[in-house]
Amino acid sequence: MDFPESKHVKLKTLDAVREDAQDCTRCDLYKNATQTVFGEGGNQARVVFVGEQPGDKEDVEGRPFVGPAGRMFDAILEEVGIDRKKTYVTNAVKHFKFELRGKRRIHSKPNAGEIRACRWWLDQELTLIQPDVAVALGATAARALVGKAVPVMTLRGTITESAEGVPVFITVHPSSLLRVPDEMDRRRARELFAEDMRKVKALMKG
Ligand code: URA
Repeated sequence: MDFPESKHVKLKTLDAVREDAQDCTRCDLYKNATQTVFGEGGNQARVVFVGEQPGDKEDVEGRPFVGPAGRMFDAILEEVGIDRKKTYVTNAVKHFKFELRGKRRIHSKPNAGEIRACRWWLDQELTLIQPDVAVALGATAARALVGKAVPVMTLRGTITESAEGVPVFITVHPSSLLRVPDEMDRRRARELFAEDMRKVKALMKG
């Protein structure tokens, strides 16, 4: 006999997956990081924002996008009228990768193997949430979502399909706005990112 519910039986909840991820040893990054920084938000979210990996502050607090890039991101979301509490915010890689310089922990880019290993968690987040759109914030997120290297500046502002068929909106990482040296250029970069977020808002159906 066919039980239609049976195909849902094995689906875990987001909280259960979050708990499993705390013990993740799928790559070596867990060895030096403080903790797994899993995504944050409800499974009703219509948009999933995907960053690269937690930074220093996120690693300590255990929450995504709470450092300087996160504050910039929050301010722009508010400006364009996206309520972060109604979104899901996560990272392609869930442990902080860094190099020690003296006492400072300097961000180090995750490699293709680490991105692939961590896709295990991102897949489950997307499957459980089923968003209208996933937003790739920068090259690492785009690579994780699309399954191969993506030319972010060429595809910026456009939709590409994820490996699982979720529409992926490509844009830059908010931390890139903080690194623009000239003030006028920085304002322009911020405005372009805000324009992208307005497009994302229009893609959210609910
Ligand atoms: N940068 C990211 O990509 N993710 C964070 O959570 C913080 C900074």
